Amino acid sequence: MKEFNVAVVGATGAVGQVFLQILEQRAFPLKNLILLASERSEGKVIKFKSENIQVKKLTRNSFKDVDIAFFSAGASRSKEYAKYAVESGALVIDNSSAFRMDDDVPLVVPEVNSSKAMKHNGIIANPNCSTIIMAVAIKPIYDISPIKKIVVSTYQAVSGAGYRAIVELENQVKDIICLKKREVKNEVFPVQIAFNVIPHIDVFLDNGYTKEEMKMHNETRKIFDDYKIKVTATTVRVPVFTSHSEAITLETKDKIKIEDAKFALKKAKGLKFLDDIDKNGNFKYPTPIIASGKDDVYVGRLREDISNENGLCMWVVGDQLRKGAALNAVQIAELFFSGRI
Ligand SMILES: NC(=O)c1ccc[n+]([C@@H]2O[C@H](COP(=O)([O-])OP(=O)(O)OC[C@H]3O[C@@H](n4cnc5c(N)ncnc54)[C@H](OP(=O)(O)O)[C@@H]3O)[C@@H](O)[C@H]2O)c1
Repeated sequence: MKEFNVAVVGATGAVGQVFLQILEQRAFPLKNLILLASERSEGKVIKFKSENIQVKKLTRNSFKDVDIAFFSAGASRSKEYAKYAVESGALVIDNSSAFRMDDDVPLVVPEVNSSKAMKHNGIIANPNCSTIIMAVAIKPIYDISPIKKIVVSTYQAVSGAGYRAIVELENQVKDIICLKKREVKNEVFPVQIAFNVIPHIDVFLDNGYTKEEMKMHNETRKIFDDYKIKVTATTVRVPVFTSHSEAITLETKDKIKIEDAKFALKKAKGLKFLDDIDKNGNFKYPTPIIASGKDDVYVGRLREDISNENGLCMWVVGDQLRKGAALNAVQIAELFFSGRI
């Protein structure tokens, strides 16, 4: 099999670190791995397999001979540097929001629209983390009957806001529990996140939604190539380290029997259906702790919506650093050598 020169831009970040785990776990055919970050991390050594790799500072000349560049260093870096990677002949798979809604950039979740990856101009976008997790979960339902409307509330982990956010939650918990402080420092989140819930992710827009909520609306329609789907989202940050949870209520064109929905979800790729009662009478459902570190998106609490004849409700949880970010990007890259497209 051909081997690839791969660059990870943002290799020291929350997503960047998971990229390295996934490239190793999936035995990605690597010839050479280049780790890029800011000036702050220049010279830092990161272990990959048995190798010690020095982090280099991202510059416009970082991409010589690179075949695939995974960008995960924020939208401004993607906007500034992705073009240099493309000019050098690399395929850019971008985790940021920089190009997601551009007409000539495919927005890909392999379980939903892998064929879109073929037609690109050097950049393929990875969707927003909550949107990827939702798209994988609703695709088997969409295949039975088109989805007309989605009402979703998210419960998003702090690592979704990067490594500084993880440290902020840890410090606040320590300050409150160990030091008995009443007031704690918040720099990443608008208010205290420890022992709290914040209905505010990304910036507020004129229509009263946040940008994160509008990403779920816009990106879902683009991924399914169905601009009739209506999506209304409320995105909420919760004091969980990893994995986003989502309460999803959807309305389909035709009524779907619960048994048919269950059957489709059970056999879908990339999904684990966890909706059971064990022999001791305990209910089984997905939680962030179950989903963290796993590749599959978990679905449970499936039920008919008592308020809508054509409605279904479900509870969905996925590791947003893996399927919501790094894993989805690596799966896109794999499409090009697996013969799946
Ligand atoms: N976290 C998630 O769950 C998630 C999910 C989907 C998509 N994303 C997207 O993925 C991207 C990274 O997110 P993250 O959570 O991993 O953030 P993060 O933990 O804050 O990491 C940011 C990374 O970007 C690098 N960086 C920052 N400024 C840079 C510069 N001027 N030049 C080069 N590198 C620079 C940082 O390097 P230093 O260490 O040197 O500062 C670090 O490696 C963002 O676009 C985010 O929206 C994140």
